[in-house]
Amino acid sequence: MSRKKNLAVLISGFGSNLQAIVDACADPDFPAVVALVISSNASAYGLKRAEQHRIPSVVTADESPFIPLMARYDIDLLCLAGYMKILSPDFVRRFSGRILNIHPSLLPQFPGRKAIEKAWRASVKETGVTVHFVDEGIDTGPIVLQESIPIREGESLESLEARIHALEHRIYPQAIRQVINHR
Ligand code: GRF
Repeated sequence: MSRKKNLAVLISGFGSNLQAIVDACADPDFPAVVALVISSNASAYGLKRAEQHRIPSVVTADESPFIPLMARYDIDLLCLAGYMKILSPDFVRRFSGRILNIHPSLLPQFPGRKAIEKAWRASVKETGVTVHFVDEGIDTGPIVLQESIPIREGESLESLEARIHALEHRIYPQAIRQVINHR
């Protein structure tokens, strides 16, 4: 097998998707490792996860250090995982096809914030999770992987959120594997 790809995971908060990716990387057959965690927020719990796994981390509110960091850590793929900042069009164009995002809805439905709640309030019959390449829009890039779940009759928002997060944790590693293997 060719060398494992180096991922940088970008977070702003809890980092449960970061955790799912780190856990997937523990499998010797997984084609990547998390080489760097970048957080836009110094108090993000995800930084503790990075520390526990001895993954280097950097806190920065703006993207100016990204290009030197990517060179320094030899980053192949950026994975946005609850990253609450918007990347500049220049940066996104430069790394086109090398930035992934996970979004908790069946895009193009319910882009932007509070997507799970928006789907729940809209009383749609199903919602889901999308992993997509990042382009210059908000949650608009080419879809890599999408999976739906039915919203149950009378289901609480909390229950739906829990099921969506569990689905995210399953499909983000799957999408990363797919992108790397198809390259
Ligand atoms: C996830 O629901 C993700 O889809 C959204 O932000 C949330 C991040 O959760 N973009 P976590 O920080 O990975 O736990």
